[in-house]
This record gives sequence, C-alpha cells and structure tokens, in this order.
Amino acid sequence: MKIFITRPIPEAGIESLKDALDDAQIEVGREDRVMSRETLLEGVKGADAIMSMLSDRMDGEAMDAAGPQLKVVANFAVGYDNIDVAEARRRGIHATNTPGVLTEATADLAWTLIMCAARRAGEGERLLRAGAWEGWGPQQLLGVSVFGQILGIFGMGRIGQAVARRARGFNMTVLYHDANRLDSETETQLSATFVDKDTLLAQSDIVSIHCPLTEQTRHAFTLAEFRRMKPTAVLVNTSRGPVVKEEDLILALKEGVIFGAGLDVYEREPEVHKALLREERAVLLPHLGSATMETRNAMARTAAANIVAALRGERPRDCVSCCA
Ligand code: GLV
Ligand code: GLV
Repeated sequence: MKIFITRPIPEAGIESLKDALDDAQIEVGREDRVMSRETLLEGVKGADAIMSMLSDRMDGEAMDAAGPQLKVVANFAVGYDNIDVAEARRRGIHATNTPGVLTEATADLAWTLIMCAARRAGEGERLLRAGAWEGWGPQQLLGVSVFGQILGIFGMGRIGQAVARRARGFNMTVLYHDANRLDSETETQLSATFVDKDTLLAQSDIVSIHCPLTEQTRHAFTLAEFRRMKPTAVLVNTSRGPVVKEEDLILALKEGVIFGAGLDVYEREPEVHKALLREERAVLLPHLGSATMETRNAMARTAAANIVAALRGERPRDCVSCCA
C-alpha cells in the first residue's frame, strides 16, 4: 500500500503509520514547501492514501491522478476547503481533517493577534528595531483597551468557543454569530450571547473570525461590514483568508474605518497584498494558528490515525465526508 504525504511532517506521524501498517510504502514530498501541481499529480499516482496540506488542491483531477485504489484524503489541518468533498464522496473516498487537537493553540494565536493589534505591538516593535524610539511619550502609540470590552466572535465552533473562554479573564462581554446557535447550556457556560451579524459588527470592540471557508462565508467581511463596525474596532482573522475581502480591509485601514487588524491568513497565500504590507495598523503573521510543537505532533498523529483506519477498512474518526 502506498501512502503519499505532500511535504515533510513531524516524525510522530510517520511513526504512527509505520507502527500500524508495517508493509506500507510511505512517500514524502522532498521539499518543505507547497508542492507544485505537477509534482503533486505525479506523486499521488498509485496512492491508497494521501496526506494533504491546506495549500494542496485535492479536487477530482488529483483524485483521478491517484487512481481508483485511493481510499482516503487525510488533511493535515482542521480546515478542508482545499478538498472537493463532493468529488471525494462521488468516488467513494473518505476525506478527513484534524479537529480538536489544534483548538487551544489556534485560540491562543487569535488572542496574540487581538492583543498585538489593539495595543499596536507590531508598530512598536518596528519603531524600536528601526532605532527610531526616542523614549516614553505620553501620547505615543496609543492603542485601544481590551480588558472589559466587547468581544464579537464570528463562527462559534470549537475554536470560537475556546477564544470565548479566554475572554473571561479579560472581563469581556462575549457576543457571537454563527449559522447554528449553541444550546442554551453552552451559551451560559461561555457567558456568550447570540446576536445577528449586524449587531455583532455594530457592538463589538473586537471581532474575531472563526468560521470555516464556504460559499456562504466567502467575503463575509467587505467594506459594507467594516462600515458597520466601530471606528475603534479591531478585526482578527485566523480562519481562512477569503472570508475577508482583502482589498476592502486595506481601504478600511487606510481610511480609518476601523482601528486595526490582526491577520494570520490571506486571500492568496503565500502571496500577501502589497498594500497590506504598507498598513501600519495591520499585524501580519504567516499562518501560524496551529504552529506549536505539541500541536503539530498531535495533528500528525491524528492525520495518520485517519489514514490507518481507512486503509484497514474502518471508518476514520475525523470524517468530513465518509463513504459507508
Ligand atoms: C490550519 O489553517 C488548519 O486548518 O488546520
Ligand atoms: C474547528 O475545529 C472549529 O470547529 O472551530
């Protein structure tokens, strides 16, 4: 059996595969970068299982390139907008992700961006490193407060809820919007109040995005949304770039429609809009949401476990689409 992994992953994942499937032939992409389409289509040939990264487009073409023996596409990520789930289902291929194990790390990173954007930490660091700091100033780099403010969470899944739990320590009021409302017990536990999207935008001091990328959430944040937000508001996105219309965000920052933004994801990764790089009020991280050693090991083991189950003819635990 051939298992194709598009780029090097933590050894824990390879070990899990070897321990469980001693006859498997494991092929790992040689370069630690996004695999080119050509290399991907060539590499998957004859694979029974593919472990894909979030930048690998796993569509019908890629599945057909693998061949009819392909049983599972296991994403090394919780988001799976790169997988054409309908095409997988049509071919009887399991598609899986790595939920749960990266929830807390991603929530931590969302908070990193909340704090950095609200308190202008990126600007301050750049100023200091440029040798331009002339000492403490009564009006220097004034940010907006976080403690006691209103946090609005757009997308209240596992990660959104983990972000909400942290808000308690900051004595914040938590509002949320999601296509699905939480049960009242969970709402009470999180002290979170369900509101419609317009109310979320209008009332929140910080808006943090935690929805998956779908046709419904693509460009959920455009200039119209930014104009509904407070001029002192901060927007944070750790979900997927295309949920925010980047050009509109740049305009909103330039014109002071909102106070600042913290981004971990971009519309055309790894490309970042040139004008965004010039926006001082944007804190920009290179898609680090789940990037801790513990979390990446856990993701590698989780993706491996999903492959092992599928190759043993069992139902993988983390199916986003499973066939029988
Ligand atoms: C990372 O973005 C993930 O979806 O796991
Ligand atoms: C991802 O795990 C989410 O449900 O937020």
